Amino acid sequence: MDIQAIRQDFPILSRKVNNCNLIYFDNAATTQKPRQVIDATNDFYSNHNANVHRGVHTLSLEATDLYEQAREKTQKFIKAKTPQEVVFVKGTTEAINLVAYTWGLSNLCKGDEVLVSLMEHHSNIVPWELTGKIGGFKVKYANVKNDGTLDYDDFESKFSAKTKIACLSQVSNVTGIINDVKRVAKVAHDHGALMLVDGAQSVPHLVVDVQNLDADFLAFSGHKMLGPTGIGVLYGKREILEKMQPFEGGGEMIKEVEFNQSSGCSISWNDLPYKFEAGTPNICGAVGLGEAVKYLETVGMDNIFCHEKELTSYALERLKQCSNVILHGSTDVNGKCGIIPFSVKGLTSHDTALILDNYGIMVRSGYHCAQPLHQQVLKLQSSDRASFYLYNTKAEVDRFVEVLKEIGAA
Ligand SMILES: Cc1ncc(COP(=O)(O)O)c(C=O)c1O
Repeated sequence: MDIQAIRQDFPILSRKVNNCNLIYFDNAATTQKPRQVIDATNDFYSNHNANVHRGVHTLSLEATDLYEQAREKTQKFIKAKTPQEVVFVKGTTEAINLVAYTWGLSNLCKGDEVLVSLMEHHSNIVPWELTGKIGGFKVKYANVKNDGTLDYDDFESKFSAKTKIACLSQVSNVTGIINDVKRVAKVAHDHGALMLVDGAQSVPHLVVDVQNLDADFLAFSGHKMLGPTGIGVLYGKREILEKMQPFEGGGEMIKEVEFNQSSGCSISWNDLPYKFEAGTPNICGAVGLGEAVKYLETVGMDNIFCHEKELTSYALERLKQCSNVILHGSTDVNGKCGIIPFSVKGLTSHDTALILDNYGIMVRSGYHCAQPLHQQVLKLQSSDRASFYLYNTKAEVDRFVEVLKEIGAA
């Protein structure tokens, strides 16, 4: 991987913040966009903009082609069997809400259980708690060990005949720890339950093969993988999506709406995936996502993973030598993606992030939408998080460590 050549593709990386070279270590929140993605979205609005699946004119056909090509690229990227299994949504949050409100509310009732882990992002907790209140089913939580790794024994022991779906992130957005979702999917299926994988932090960084994982659902966001905001994917196995009710009603998700004075309205749903794409979709977002997928594939997901691993290993070794820095969670780089949670002694997480910002270094502070993991497991109110991507360098890590040392000395 030629990191310097890659960096040239990202215009934002050459800007200064507070008179310093920008060091962007907040990739778990959202990633920067390469020129190729920016150009593809510009080209869409400049040359092809029209609504999709509605018109017979040239622009509508071009826009529809670009939109569907993006779906096919994404399908191949996650190794889904067919493009019909790829539903475009706003992002991971909407994908999980879609499953909870459609599949959840029609298949779960009083006495049933949804099994999630304590390390989940709020978007894999709150939709289940909300729908559980409506549908009368319960959300059960599997433990996470003190080092942030999943307690597989606890997770597996909590399955019973009542468990109807297990929901687990493939990579934690706080610790970067990689979960063996294939193993959990097998246990779920042995119990007749489904498996939902939150891929928000895995799809951008690892090779994810939905068929190999045997995931029933996979949710992820375009903006965390070099794509635009407001576009994401819900993957679902075709036979499961076929049986689900639509999430929203409107144009494009229906085949026919027939009205009869005596019997009223009769509606039949459109085919997959359009049944779940009511209204005008984020066409340009999808085009940008398709271009982001192309970019990632050209660099190579294995290369990206190796680069991040090397960078994480280097950063961890350097940070361990900073007496004022506390590292949280497991530091075993083998089971981790490029996310490092840390604190600086004597400073709140927001103070640390603000001081780093003075030096042009962007990190996330707070509890990263994972309050149960922070409070119940890591016993922290909040933490700072440095998260890497393909364009980050060892030189940036060196500068980050140097600044952290300066903060300690002050
Ligand atoms: C693990 C995980 N799940 C879900 C989400 C929610 O993603 P979005 O805000 O793009 O819907 C995030 C975002 O940080 C995440 O890290």
